[in-house]
Order: sequence, then C-alpha cells, then structure tokens
Amino acid sequence: MPLVTGKEVLDKARREGYAVPSFNTNNLEITQAILEVADELRAPVFIQVSDGARKYAGMENLANLVKDMASRTKVPVVLHLDHGADFKMVMQALRAGFTSVMIDASHHPFEENVAETKKVVEAAHAVGVSVEAELGRLQGIEDNIQVSEAEAFLTDPEEAERFVAETGIDYLAIAIGTSHGAYKGKGRPYIDHKRLEEISKRVSIPLVLHGASGVPTWLKEKLLATGAELKEATGIHDEDIKKAIPNGIAKINIDTDLRLAMTLGIREVVMGNPKEFDPRKIIGRGRDYLKQVIREKFELMGTVGRA
Ligand code: G3H
Ligand code: 13P
Ligand code: ZN
Repeated sequence: MPLVTGKEVLDKARREGYAVPSFNTNNLEITQAILEVADELRAPVFIQVSDGARKYAGMENLANLVKDMASRTKVPVVLHLDHGADFKMVMQALRAGFTSVMIDASHHPFEENVAETKKVVEAAHAVGVSVEAELGRLQGIEDNIQVSEAEAFLTDPEEAERFVAETGIDYLAIAIGTSHGAYKGKGRPYIDHKRLEEISKRVSIPLVLHGASGVPTWLKEKLLATGAELKEATGIHDEDIKKAIPNGIAKINIDTDLRLAMTLGIREVVMGNPKEFDPRKIIGRGRDYLKQVIREKFELMGTVGRA
C-alpha cells in the first residue's frame, strides 16, 4: 500500500498501548528484511533514514526504494527522516516523499529548539507530513551512576509539556536514560521510568524512544564466537522496553541491533567459508539474521497483528 503518515500510525499505537519499531535502513537488503517481516507479521512499521544513510546511499535512492517496495506490501509503512539536522534537510526529505520527519534541535537552548521546531512543523504540516522533535540529550544511565548526575540531560516533564504546546509537533522524542550505539553503560543501563510516568501524565501525544537497541545476548555470543571484539557491548533490557510502552512510548528506534545482525551474518560466512566470494551468499546470511532480530522487536513491542 502507499506510504502512510507517522501520526496516523502512532496515535493509534499510543491509544491502544503498543509501540511501533522504527528501523534504520541503509540499503536494499535491510529494507527487504524490514518489509518482509512486517508483512509476514501484519505489523505497521517505520523505516528511517539517517544522515549517515543519506551520505552512504543517497536520500532519494533510499526514499524511492522504500516507496516502491512499500507499495507492494500489505501493511502501513512510514518513511521517516531520522535526526533531521536543520530546516534545509527537512525540506529535502519533504521533496523526496517522506511521510514523517524529525527535526533534532535538542542541542540548542529551549527557546531556539522551539523556534526551529515550529518552523519545521509549519512547513511539514502544510504538505500533510508528521513531525517528531526532541527535548533533552540522550545519555545512558548505569547502575553505578546516580540519575541525578545525568539529570541535566534528561527531559524535564514540565518543559516537555510546554514544548509540545508551543511547537505543535505530532510526537516527542525524550531522553530518559537510553543512548545511541552498542555501549549503553558499564553496569546495567536502565530507563528512568518515574520520569517517563511524569512526562506521560503531562504529554498526551505519542512519545519516542531513541537509543533503544538491546544488544541481544544470543547475537552478542555468536558475534564473540566469530572473534568480534564486542565484550563491553550492552543494551536496554527487554523488560524496560515493555514497561515503557504503557506509559506512552509509541515509536522505538532501533539501528545498532540491525548492524550487529548484519555483521554477524557477514562474519560467519566470510570467516567460516574462506572460498566464498558471492556477495549474495555473504550479505544474504546477514539479511537472515536481520529478519530474526526484526521479528523479535515486533514481538517485544506488541506490534504483531496490528495492521
Ligand atoms: O541515530 C543514529 C543512528 O544510529 C544512525 O546513525 O548517521 O551513523 O547512520 P548514522
Ligand atoms: P540504537 O543505537 O540504540 O539502535 O538507537 C538508534 C536510534 O535512536 C536512531 O535514531
Ligand atoms: Zn536516535
């Protein structure tokens, strides 16, 4: 079916108490894995394009690929700009046919973040595209670090309420203890659930969780077995993700776990079969592992059968 807007998918998710994963794509095989599993599980899905993806594969190429492949799937697919850096990048995404954009001005002071975000909301809404913005700075919380130390970076519930009212965004990304990448803390990374509850009481639009990869144990163990140096890698625990969803988290961003899955497949084939030189066999194994990880995410977030 044709692409749908993010607001459509996420308002329903928050109302009904499940979340929709937003997976980063960078190429054909990642896009195939996401859409094949979404279709098979009848699950709505976001496919997002980062700045890095845009530089690697080209924004138009990825947009056209997703649009074309989504037109042949039976589930709602949202094409989303991940961490849009500025107004100009958002305009390029609108032109390329994205149905959801993120403006990330979270590194600016509050008022500047509001001003930049408002500008994007006005333009995107004029052409029917949904907007995500971020308040707070992503920072991991570990067992041995007090939340208060990270407090300055985490989203303030009262500010969140004001930010949503002043900007008119459709969904809000918040900082509650997660962080990007495969190293989310030396102890047990966790989510500040109390803060999330406070935000959820004040903000009724869908909330977005970035940096939500789990670095699944099975994946890490298989990677270590291939000689990958990832001993310190840690992610957000599944029970924290499950607990966050009833408190308004409706969009959950996953990139790192996909990178790990693709890398595992490639390492297994390349290192286990030194004579293999057919890229389809090498990348294909990566795609198989990607599908396994993607399936687990839909199950974890309660997205299965929602489309
Ligand atoms: O939010 C960050 C995502 O993991 C994408 O990162 O710009 O390196 O593709 P990237
Ligand atoms: P991870 O690095 O935890 O997968 O987070 C990805 C993300 O937030 C992209 O916006
Ligand atoms: Zn992010």
